[in-house]
Amino acid sequence: MSYAQLYGQWQKDPEGFWLAAAGGIDWVTPPTRALDASRAPLYEWFTDAQVNTCWNAVDRHVIAGRGKQAAIIHDSPVTGTKHVITYADLLDRVSRLAGALKAKGIQKGDRVIIYMPMIPEALEAMLACARLGAIHSVVFGGFAAHELAVRIDDCTPKAIIAASCGIEPSRVVHYKPLLDAAIDQATHKPDFCVIFQREQEVAKLTPGRDVAWHEFQFGVEPADCTPVEGNHPAYILYTSGTTGAPKGVVRPTAGHLVALNWTMRAIYNVGAGDVFWAASDVGWVVGHSYICYGPLIAGCTTVVYEGKPVGTPDAAAFWRVINEYGVKSFFTAPTALRAIKRDDPDGKLVPPLPSLQALYLAGERADPDTIHWAQNHLKVPVVDHWWQTETGYAIAANPLGIEHLPVKIGSPSVAMPGFDVQVLDEGGHPVSPGTLGAIAIKLPLPPGTLPTLWNAEERFRKSYLNHFPGYYETGDAGYIDADGYLYIMARTDDVINVAGHRLSTGAMEEVLAAHKDVAECAVIGVADDLKGQSPLGFLCLNKGSNRPHDEVVKECVKLVRDQIGPVADFKRAVVVDRLPKTRSGKILRGTMVKIADSQPWKMPATIDDPAILDEIKAALQTMGLARD
Ligand code: COA
Ligand code: AMP
Repeated sequence: MSYAQLYGQWQKDPEGFWLAAAGGIDWVTPPTRALDASRAPLYEWFTDAQVNTCWNAVDRHVIAGRGKQAAIIHDSPVTGTKHVITYADLLDRVSRLAGALKAKGIQKGDRVIIYMPMIPEALEAMLACARLGAIHSVVFGGFAAHELAVRIDDCTPKAIIAASCGIEPSRVVHYKPLLDAAIDQATHKPDFCVIFQREQEVAKLTPGRDVAWHEFQFGVEPADCTPVEGNHPAYILYTSGTTGAPKGVVRPTAGHLVALNWTMRAIYNVGAGDVFWAASDVGWVVGHSYICYGPLIAGCTTVVYEGKPVGTPDAAAFWRVINEYGVKSFFTAPTALRAIKRDDPDGKLVPPLPSLQALYLAGERADPDTIHWAQNHLKVPVVDHWWQTETGYAIAANPLGIEHLPVKIGSPSVAMPGFDVQVLDEGGHPVSPGTLGAIAIKLPLPPGTLPTLWNAEERFRKSYLNHFPGYYETGDAGYIDADGYLYIMARTDDVINVAGHRLSTGAMEEVLAAHKDVAECAVIGVADDLKGQSPLGFLCLNKGSNRPHDEVVKECVKLVRDQIGPVADFKRAVVVDRLPKTRSGKILRGTMVKIADSQPWKMPATIDDPAILDEIKAALQTMGLARD
């Protein structure tokens, strides 16, 4: 069946389409209907079904005779170790961990925060929660204690599962002190913490609160799978919004299973026994969907890689992993390829890659140079696909498992079944092909996408539904061409994308504004050859502050690192007298971005004092930006 036929089939009968896809999942009680529109515009899927995620990702493959197949391959150049966990091992490890959690009181619906690096135990912790119907929330290791504390207070976990440390090429990341500081800062306190002690660092446990990973599992009875309702939250994943408070994206259990299973074949063209690798981190949505759940639900082998694209040890690391394990489909961020291309511009380190069938890119705009480099040197189709934490899987892609559509470089191709993507003008009217506008998706969104935000239904409506009634607002701007290909051009909000990581400039501004010498500030994302965008701060100091500017800048950089974390990559700021604003007081961040990036820009008609832009330009030029 062609892509057009399949998309047409979904348009004609969306519920029939998803009920048919539900046939790929093992149900305790199968769904009798797909969509529940009783609370429209809030929608849910498969609400009358009963199911367990862990069963579908682990147990059923062992029962089907795949127990000896590798489920997880851990390849860790930063520790110099590799090991394989079969599906039978995984079942054993996960049911024991779930048993230990259960023995300490974790039940269906309880929240559990997971703060771990790229080790198999992170996936095991996720699966053990799923086994019990507990709701996990994984926090990326590059976030600082404050960000962890904010998440602890929002989802009020009964337990936190953490590792003693993570390993970055340049340093050991001491997770335990970060965890202790976060619990100190948070108002909510977990009942207990489970600490996985790594060889590289043995953390000091807090008596009465902390238990060690192995000891607490000793002698426990392994737990069986707890069936949950189709709309039971499988997990909460926090992502950046426009303010400092992250949004808790809720993932519903049944839709997640059905949709991910469908994408593994339709988009990634893999099935049971194939090796699939997403070089991301379990702390991001890509890690949830395509390091942990998607490949395991489909019975693939998933690679957990604890290393970088370059420097561990060199720009051939990805190709070594692909050849060593026979990876068939490989997923990474354009930034990672740009880093490789920078070290190996002529592709001299790229060997023949006989197992590789396709490369998938997402997380940020894939620039044409990077796509050409990959096409030339890897000699496989390069699929740019577009999605968000909120959707959990691709909104637009080139679905290689259905049909390899002609590639248009610069476009993540076409809308996937389930998504009616439209470009709207400010008044909410669809625009004609080729016209730039806000990208929105006609409601209902398909199974597995967010039904709401954790503890924040009003924020969900305000962030996504209210602006364009009847649509989900993606926050991206772009256009659709006459062939239905989508082009994602920019965000419409204050979210920036640094090395494929989604960050809030508003959150950084909140931190800077708390510095005692800062009266006012603004953070923008400026173009960066490697990371796509890079944050840059403008600081206006309090009247009478006579502190040396470089000292204040240094303190501000440290403050963001300490409060948000190294992942914010906030390394540059400049002191200015005034910020450019409209007459109503809105800071003209968009104009500052254009000036910094040496792009053509127009003097905003509403600007209060045009002379300020000259001062901003001069300040940017001292940093090597804003070239004439
Ligand atoms: N735990 C703790 N710190 C982390 C971390 C983690 N899991 N991940 C990154 N950091 C730190 C880094 O050590 C770095 O700290 P530093 O300021 O002390 O150097 C900082 O966060 C910024 O990291 P990063 O943006 O990764 O930059 P980098 O210069 O270390 O590496 C690349 C550059 C291109 C190699 C790297 O950004 C990369 O691999 N990007 C791909 C990202 C990706 O796969 N994203 C997928 C999301 S779908
Ligand atoms: P995240 O929720 O972290 O996955 O970030 C989602 C955002 O990243 C999207 O809203 C886009 O702004 C951007 N993004 C993701 N994939 C792509 C892509 N293929 N092309 C352009 N932008 C992308």
